[in-house]
Amino acid sequence: MRILSIETSCDETAAALLEFTQKNGDIAVNIVAEKLHSQTDIHAEYGGVFPTLAKREHQKILPLLVKNMLKETGTLQSDTAKSITKDIETICEREPDMLSMIRDNFEKTRIEDIDAIAVTRGPGLAPALWVGVNFARAIATLWQIPVIPVNHMEGHIFSALFNTSGTCSKPQYPVLSLLVSGGHTELVLSPKEGEYKKIGNTLDDAAGEAFDKVARLLGLPYPGGPEIGKIAHTAREQNLAAPVTLPRPMLKDSSLNFSYAGLKTAVRVYLEKNPRLSEDETMALAMEFEDAVVETLLEKTRRSIEIHNPKTIVVGGGVSANKHLREKMTEMINMYPETTLHLSELKHATDNAVMIALAAYIHRNEKTDALSLSADSGLSFPMMQHTN
Ligand code: KG4
Ligand code: ZN
Repeated sequence: MRILSIETSCDETAAALLEFTQKNGDIAVNIVAEKLHSQTDIHAEYGGVFPTLAKREHQKILPLLVKNMLKETGTLQSDTAKSITKDIETICEREPDMLSMIRDNFEKTRIEDIDAIAVTRGPGLAPALWVGVNFARAIATLWQIPVIPVNHMEGHIFSALFNTSGTCSKPQYPVLSLLVSGGHTELVLSPKEGEYKKIGNTLDDAAGEAFDKVARLLGLPYPGGPEIGKIAHTAREQNLAAPVTLPRPMLKDSSLNFSYAGLKTAVRVYLEKNPRLSEDETMALAMEFEDAVVETLLEKTRRSIEIHNPKTIVVGGGVSANKHLREKMTEMINMYPETTLHLSELKHATDNAVMIALAAYIHRNEKTDALSLSADSGLSFPMMQHTN
């Protein structure tokens, strides 16, 4: 089966083409092609993602990204019978720029050997999501192929579970996922494939959001997560002492929830009182902040393991690219020999379209009618009542 996937939930415009083959219950995944255009430069001056700008960029970039990928893979053929219908015009009513690009680039074309179009339905920024969703609806209508809507967070889970270079066996369930991104920090339990219950959540800021906001306070560019990771690593290598002890929020709280707004405030208050930090002090403060985030993520994961005995642990989302988190999580899971840890490979930890095709494959029998599909910015796994 071949899936064309599209991701536009935030500030990455991404498309991929994946091929799946099944052999005795194992699945072989082949990334035929993948494309990613990051908008971070555009959003950097705002210190975060600016939704209307993201929408404009996605509209401009996505049709060309997909066209180039399909041309390079020999999948796009001409077909004079395929024209832009009234339905397609209606789908793109709110994205007129995209409609004219679809007209210019895809009218009178068809695609070969693609069984479905997968697209991120949510969660994410509504204006950004709608571009991907409406683009998928439009080309699916033009080419008459089905659409598979995907939950972005489920994409992050499968990005860690699937080994994209070769054959992979199905994971052992229950699977516990720690999902840490710019918009989410949650613990999700899957008793079986495709079934999810949220068992922990952030009460305010997401971990990635805290990384980005603290980076800004430290004068580092957006996105701040990788920048903090770099200087914190140097501070650790140089054995620098933290200039202040920051709080470890919710560590003593018995729930599986997180909170990062207070931690960010603690950094801000410290910087207001100590405005002229040396380079070493800045690096050591970044290290202390990273320690506080990683310790809380680790402790709530450890507690979830004790309560729910998962056989597989997944760490996914942009923050899972953090070196310190990866090392500490690996160390901790080594204490549970019955449990296997899956970390997203670095390239596919942050947003991409490969993860969307991977999750779509699991839902390959849940194809949706393109005309009735909608984006859902608040799409979420159901929350399970905490019983500890
Ligand atoms: O999953 P993702 O690419 O986008 C969302 O779905 O939000 O996550 C982006 C987040 C940003 O907040 C970014 O600063 C953070 O992931 N991030 C990192 C690292 N790489 C990306 N945070 C800490 N360390 C990193 N190496
Ligand atoms: Zn993400």
